[in-house]
Amino acid sequence: MVIFKNVVKYYENLKVLRDISFQINRGELVYITGPTGSGKTTLLKLIYLAEKPDQGEIIVGDFKVTNLKASQIPYLRRKIGVIFQDFKLIQNMTVFDNVAISLIIRKEKDIKNQVLEALKKVHLRHKADCYPKILSGGEQQRVVIARAIVSKPELILADEPTANLDPNTATAIMQLINEINLQGTTVIIATHYRELFRNTWRRIIRIDEGNLIEKAAQ
Ligand SMILES: Nc1ncnc2c1ncn2[C@@H]1O[C@H](COP(=O)(O)OP(=O)(O)OP(=O)(O)O)[C@@H](O)[C@H]1O
Ligand SMILES: [Mg+2]
Repeated sequence: MVIFKNVVKYYENLKVLRDISFQINRGELVYITGPTGSGKTTLLKLIYLAEKPDQGEIIVGDFKVTNLKASQIPYLRRKIGVIFQDFKLIQNMTVFDNVAISLIIRKEKDIKNQVLEALKKVHLRHKADCYPKILSGGEQQRVVIARAIVSKPELILADEPTANLDPNTATAIMQLINEINLQGTTVIIATHYRELFRNTWRRIIRIDEGNLIEKAAQ
């Protein structure tokens, strides 16, 4: 589903990722971890083509991301659901509209059913007409997840999905992401928070000083 071959990424003179190679198979859930500033968010941004690599090759599904024409980028992004901190909910739009927005932009049919189905999956069907500010932090994050899954992406990228949540809410959010994975979606979670993968049997990819250190499990 995702292949990195000898990927190098600089921000000006700063070499953030050095010769990173790995493969994530369809249906996997993988953690990307490493200390703050080690390049986890950058790695997710390369998959989504929010950043471009300086060297190497990246393949996502059928897309050779490194050679992708600008006109193809929206098609790549349709395959990917993102749970990123800088894609916040729009405060003056209802929960329903926040989830619907990508479908509206694409002029899809049957938007209402798709949105309600996504909200049902995150157990927020009853909050469809609310505005984000009256929701708890955990509920808001569930709306973000509904927005990420509404177009049935093949791949979900989650960047610190439990940041700012209390431990019980964080556990519930992780359960939800696991359920989405068990229904067949490939998931990549970037986090420096060890608690998230303490007892996991899932694959953990660790980045340290721009180098990849891969482990089978903790
Ligand atoms: N747009 C940018 N321009 C310049 N430098 C950047 C940019 N984005 C990130 N960096 C730098 O690249 C390095 C890696 O950043 P990145 O956000 O990928 O790390 P991270 O592992 O996600 O960290 P954290 O755990 O704090 O989220 C950091 O030193 C950061 O300052
Ligand atoms: Mg980060």
